Amino acid sequence: MRKREIEGTDYSLADFYEYPDKDLFAKAKELAIYLDDFTKRGHNSYRRTLLTPCDHRVIIWDDMTKQKKEMIMMGSNNYLGLVTHPKVKEAGIKAYEKWGMGAGGVPLLSGTLDLLKELEHRLAKMKGCEDAVVFSSGYSMNLGTISALVRRGDVAINDKLNHASIIDGSRFADGDMRVFKHNDMEHLEKILQYSDNKYNGKLIIVDSVFSMDGDIAPLPEIRKLADNYGAKIMIDEAHSTGVIGENGRGAPEHFNMWGQIDIVAGTLSKALAGVGGFAATTKEVADYIRLYARSYFFSTALPPATIASLIAAIDVIETEPELRERLWKNIRYMRENLQKMGYDTQNSETAIIPIIIGDDYKLREMNRIIHEKGIFLNPVPYPAVPKKLSRLRISLMATHTQEDLDTTLEVLEEVGKQFGIIE
Ligand SMILES: Cc1ncc(COP(=O)(O)O)c(C=O)c1O
Repeated sequence: MRKREIEGTDYSLADFYEYPDKDLFAKAKELAIYLDDFTKRGHNSYRRTLLTPCDHRVIIWDDMTKQKKEMIMMGSNNYLGLVTHPKVKEAGIKAYEKWGMGAGGVPLLSGTLDLLKELEHRLAKMKGCEDAVVFSSGYSMNLGTISALVRRGDVAINDKLNHASIIDGSRFADGDMRVFKHNDMEHLEKILQYSDNKYNGKLIIVDSVFSMDGDIAPLPEIRKLADNYGAKIMIDEAHSTGVIGENGRGAPEHFNMWGQIDIVAGTLSKALAGVGGFAATTKEVADYIRLYARSYFFSTALPPATIASLIAAIDVIETEPELRERLWKNIRYMRENLQKMGYDTQNSETAIIPIIIGDDYKLREMNRIIHEKGIFLNPVPYPAVPKKLSRLRISLMATHTQEDLDTTLEVLEEVGKQFGIIE
């Protein structure tokens, strides 16, 4: 690759992974040239800076116009709007006053506050499990939990569309990794057959709601296959918690599979509106994870104010079902109208709605105009997804108003027609 050849139309981030040069930082120099060009075209939507809290409307600092800009937020994981919920904020403020800023240690040593034990207990109860281990992020939960359990001679069996942190956890583990085609039970069975002779322990891992497509894993079928081949199941409830299930308790409730999923894991950063991750399971397995997950015991426990707000967020999920009802009203309205317009929204069933564009340059250009028209959503180009499935990704919130939804739909209709994605 030569510097002068780099143009935003032809390149993606995948082109800068490696750069053979004695200067270790030469790759960063090359990337900077690409980013410059990319930014001049108005395609750089990374790190748009929020000047107000993450709510259904935000004010950002617009780097293109060098001005403040009000936008409709259609790109946040704050599904129930709990980031700014008064009870959630108040709990955090009170805990800050009582406990100060940090936990002061890793959870195995001095960092376990009684608040942390309460959060573990509440999460375990929510997911129908005996115990829950709380990590400092969802990413570190997947890294730590999978690598603690999948040892040499074992195998992690992943859905192809699993979140990057699950894939990274499986790579980091001493055991092997196998991948089955997305939600394809025949392929999963083939891999289980093959793995039965080759490996000792087998862990099937899936997102219960997939983070880029918003569809749901067929857990009853996965359970049957797992039983036939003596495998365990771990699900990542990042986008399920607070969203699916009659009371927002996630996939075990959605499928009425209480006690049938071996590890019900997830993040505390989406509907629960804070930061952190959890792995809910039996007491025995939880204790094993605590002592063998390196990202757990080598990392400081969550700060008390965050923990208190997370407990309050669970309270709100349990006592204010109207928030989830509003979220689902918004999901249905948006999905139906996007499909009516002719957009391909894949098999989305939840608050994440992909709009397939299938051409990275078009995707960037469309997003530039959508941004200019005041809608904040996330373009997802290659290599995050295959080139022909590059997409705009919408995430809905309970707090979106009818006006937010209709304005977004109007913009998407106009821009989709302009670029020939819909007629
Ligand atoms: C399915 C899934 N798992 C894990 C993560 C990582 O969680 P966190 O952001 O809490 O580290 C995410 C978040 O982006 C996710 O979507």
